[in-house]
Amino acid sequence: MTATVRIDPSVQVAGIVHTPGDKSISHRALLLAALGDGTSTIEGLSRGEDVGRTATIIQQLGASLAEVGGTIEVSGGRERLGAASQALDCGNSGTTMRLVMGLTAGLSGTSTLMGDSSLSRRPMDRVAIPLTQMGARVEGQGDKLTPPLLVHGGSLHGIRYELPVPSAQVKSAILLAGLFADGATTVIENVATRPNTEEMLLLAGADLHITPEGSSSAITIRPSALRPHAWRVPGDPSQAAFFIVAGLLASKGAITVPGLYGDPTRTGFLTVLERMGGSITRGEGDDLEVEAKSSNLRGTEIHSSEIPSVDEVPILAVAAAAASGTTRFIDVGELRIKESDRFSGSLVLAQRLGATAFAEGDDLIIEGLGSASAFVEVELDAHGDHRMAMAAAIAGLVGGGATVSGFDSVATSFPGFVDVLDSLR
Ligand code: S3P
Repeated sequence: MTATVRIDPSVQVAGIVHTPGDKSISHRALLLAALGDGTSTIEGLSRGEDVGRTATIIQQLGASLAEVGGTIEVSGGRERLGAASQALDCGNSGTTMRLVMGLTAGLSGTSTLMGDSSLSRRPMDRVAIPLTQMGARVEGQGDKLTPPLLVHGGSLHGIRYELPVPSAQVKSAILLAGLFADGATTVIENVATRPNTEEMLLLAGADLHITPEGSSSAITIRPSALRPHAWRVPGDPSQAAFFIVAGLLASKGAITVPGLYGDPTRTGFLTVLERMGGSITRGEGDDLEVEAKSSNLRGTEIHSSEIPSVDEVPILAVAAAAASGTTRFIDVGELRIKESDRFSGSLVLAQRLGATAFAEGDDLIIEGLGSASAFVEVELDAHGDHRMAMAAAIAGLVGGGATVSGFDSVATSFPGFVDVLDSLR
């Protein structure tokens, strides 16, 4: 099924937006709860399909899960977990697949991991290479080891591994495998990516140390038993980004988003929007509140390391299309291997809005129209990519309307997105 959704424009956009629980923290809360000896609780878990995949998989691996009045209870423990006889279906979720690769590498036996057509095109060699060095064996399709995968786990040993591309998913897979490995496992990170796995492993009692090495950081984990924990999942800043840009680009109004996870690896997009002239008021720390008011934006240069994982580029491309002057996204080739090719998706979206957009190698350049009121009515096939669908919808809301096909993908991360959008008119 590929749903088509029509979004009508609105001159004013105003209100308070409550985003779903942070997706990255939700996946990790489930996985660490499955590993913790006893019963963990999770408040504020994302209800998106991606996190639902991880929830199903931890049960297939041996944990049990119940919902009691909105709180998720997971009973886990190392002794309960083992490779499942049935395939582990990760759906559209790269985070599920890559983190579960790390976990199943530590379990003796063979696990089968599969995904939908989008995930089946994404490279898993970036995770398989370090896991193989640790003693696991991973089989996949072609050179890039695309899914479906077989992970033959057990008897791992520690390694020291420098990440060749900044990736929280790869870092996390290695650290999870390191829980099961003989000796120390060290991951060297030259560009800081979201620190959820290491922060949450520490809270669950893992033997983990983070040491600066020049401008890099070395994260070392030793085999550890985890204890259960009461997890509280804050709001997702990457989902907030869509509505923050809506608040900035609308001709009138203001949007407030409270309760967000505020780590700097996730809020780079706010710094970018502030540099573009966005009127943004933000608090600090773990319970971040952001207010965004109607603003005239101007173009800027954005290096990928400012927004590691580049999740916010599709919506920043919409902001760039509304800005006066030129915006250059530098070194954003990773966009090509996300849920869809977001490099060409963002470029095409900006062009369809009426802006000039082109590529120079791995850089994406957008010459903006000076205002979202100059956007033309846009039609976009989101190619089953939730972030492309939501970016196009916001462009339609603040511009000249949008018709977006492939919109059902939004349920992977933000069920109810259209209702929230409609409540702001
Ligand atoms: C995520 C890491 C990022 C990001 C994804 C979630 C995570 O991917 O794009 O949405 O939860 O670890 P990379 O690790 O490939 O940068």
